[in-house]
Amino acid sequence: MSVTGRGNGKIILFNEHFVVYGVPAIASSINRYVEAEIADSDTVTIFDERVNLTNDPLEKRILEVMSSKMNIDLNKNPIKVIIRGDIPLGSGLGASAATCVAIARALSKYFKLDLSDEEINSIAYEGERIYHGNPSGIDNTVATFGGVIWFERGKKAERINIGKPLYIIIGNTGVRASTRKAIEKVRRNREKDPERFENLLNEARSLAQSARKCIEEGELKRIGELMNKNHELLQEIGVSCKKLDYLVDLFLRKGALGAKLTGGGLGGNAIALVEDADKQDVIAEEVRREGFDVMKVRVE
Ligand code: MEV
Repeated sequence: MSVTGRGNGKIILFNEHFVVYGVPAIASSINRYVEAEIADSDTVTIFDERVNLTNDPLEKRILEVMSSKMNIDLNKNPIKVIIRGDIPLGSGLGASAATCVAIARALSKYFKLDLSDEEINSIAYEGERIYHGNPSGIDNTVATFGGVIWFERGKKAERINIGKPLYIIIGNTGVRASTRKAIEKVRRNREKDPERFENLLNEARSLAQSARKCIEEGELKRIGELMNKNHELLQEIGVSCKKLDYLVDLFLRKGALGAKLTGGGLGGNAIALVEDADKQDVIAEEVRREGFDVMKVRVE
């Protein structure tokens, strides 16, 4: 017998990192996925097709932790797990959370546990902790439920209604980055100057409220301005880098309404908001010509 489970990729529209400290953030799923297939086996094996690797210690640990949360004894019930998908790894688009959700869903199906999305989400969070140390839970929440969400740590996520579709271009710096390291860097920067950090958190909090209102009302120009402001706040806490700043600037020079890094930062991807589908085609092509991989998404 073999079953499959899936998790969504994501972009964070506002307030990655600040969300770790209780500030609200806004994120959206994208139509990229991780799929986990589980099949009968004589030994517990996990094969990651994306990197052609068998029994990566981190992935094995994640499988063990999530199975034990589900009261599954893998020694008595050995399985083979195969991971595949089209979310670039280490790029801030939620590949790790989508992997955890995909495995949790496949385990639930294979062992006929019939878990709810809430249960899958909290099990995937335990997997995410192994990847990232102290994640807020936003990535696994979007990977589980999809859509555009308002997320505050420890609270139930809320769906946001979009006033107008958002045409987004995702541009990849090509630099692979570790979210765990980025979270650690922010923690150290906070310790160096707690008062300054507190002020930045307050700015990010009020920015989130304005951004939500603008998204609900479809005020594209203002959403773009707030994205630019959010990128500045992310620079202040130390998670941007030269390549991300270059890419954000390139998007703006080509006519985007706003741009910022997305996800853990220190590399990975930047996102840009543009006016409509035509602009999206033109600007994406121009940025591609400068040597960056781009993806086009419509958020609604
Ligand atoms: C990573 O996609 C988002 C971060 O805010 C980490 C987290 O919230 O767990 C950087």
